[in-house]
Amino acid sequence: MENFTAYNPTRLHFGKNVTDELGDVVKRYGKHVLLIYGQGSVKKYGYYDKIVNQLKKAGLKITEYSGIKPNPILEDVEKAVVLGKQNKIDVMLALGGGSVIDSAKIIGLCIASDTRAWDFMKWRARPKASIPLVNVLTLAATGTEMNGAAVIQNPETGEKIGFVDELNFPKHSFLDPQFTISVPFDYTAYGIVDLIAHALEAFFGKGEPSITDRIIFSIIKDAFYWGPKLLQDLQNYDLRASIMLDATLALNGLTYYGKQGGDWGVHAIGHQLSFLYDTPHGATLSIAYPAWLKLQKNRIPDRIKALGRGLFDTDSVDETISLLSAFFTKVKSPVNLSDLDIGLQHKSEILEQLNKSRASGLHHVLSKEDHLKLVDLMM
Ligand code: NZQ
Ligand code: ZN
Repeated sequence: MENFTAYNPTRLHFGKNVTDELGDVVKRYGKHVLLIYGQGSVKKYGYYDKIVNQLKKAGLKITEYSGIKPNPILEDVEKAVVLGKQNKIDVMLALGGGSVIDSAKIIGLCIASDTRAWDFMKWRARPKASIPLVNVLTLAATGTEMNGAAVIQNPETGEKIGFVDELNFPKHSFLDPQFTISVPFDYTAYGIVDLIAHALEAFFGKGEPSITDRIIFSIIKDAFYWGPKLLQDLQNYDLRASIMLDATLALNGLTYYGKQGGDWGVHAIGHQLSFLYDTPHGATLSIAYPAWLKLQKNRIPDRIKALGRGLFDTDSVDETISLLSAFFTKVKSPVNLSDLDIGLQHKSEILEQLNKSRASGLHHVLSKEDHLKLVDLMM
């Protein structure tokens, strides 16, 4: 077992109608709220009205920033920072999925300082304060609702990168599965893939404590069990709740006990595909994971066998990889670049992006030769 520290200050409010308490909670942090949301789904499905009513009932003043894109970009972060500073907001409310919440985390760091967002993201400056962040999550996938990570894309520098800091932890996250009922089939599937990928990244991090391995298997098996059922019954509250909880537990620190964090090599590859083709995050992972496992199968066969035993009751490395891939196919997430019509003509630009970004895991380091193999394996 590795030495480790554990910390999670986010208060989670989970279940039906938990947002009834939202106004009272938000007003503890001040009078003026910066409400941040995406490209319209929250208005279309009535979540916006519900939340704004809560805030108004609590007597709060609201300034809004909307239009955060999936695979969020730096420009939106910077514009929201200007708005937040001009209006001297006290607290932020992020209403949306991972892209909205991740953006809000970085927006909060910048409003509380005179530093530009990309200087934090690139570790050229260290944050000293943030604006309190309260979330209402509308999509089960990333785990950002209960962690200190944020991922942003900068089209100018050609990067999609993550930034992890204790100041990024939300104060509160409200998770009412009713808010996820409108998530369409494809993004529901990508969310299931993403949470499984988070558990796998933890599994392949440094350290192999058996209790944590078992927690990881439980999360993945729960998603294997409920995920396909949910995809056949998208309106089902209980199924939405199961997947929502799986997603939070997959990346809130629980899977790191006794380990030195996760590997994150597959996410590093996935981010390059999202950057190049605006591919939804989960869809990049169902392509990259089978390829990564094939690359690693002769390097870490025992670890992959342990995964196979834990998930599929098999000792075979090849069977483990093909059963994982089969699950991704079952939930209709792509497993090859060709499934997204990304053909051989794109091979060199993907390779260049992987090389340029030095896409690698923290534990299992990827070389340029590995990048080439991975591109071939993903085709
Ligand atoms: O923009 P709107 O109109 O809101 O539509 C969104 C968006 O098009 C829509 N949506 C969200 N909730 C909905 C809904 N549609 C109907 N009903 C609802 N209730 O779904 C689309 C995708 O939203 P997005 O927020 O982009 O998805 P997700 O939650 O998967 O977030 C993905 C981002 O999170 C990052 C990813 O890299 C990606 O940028 N990640 C963040 C992590 C973290 N902070 O810990 C870890 C992850 O590994 C991941 O990297
Ligand atoms: Zn992810």
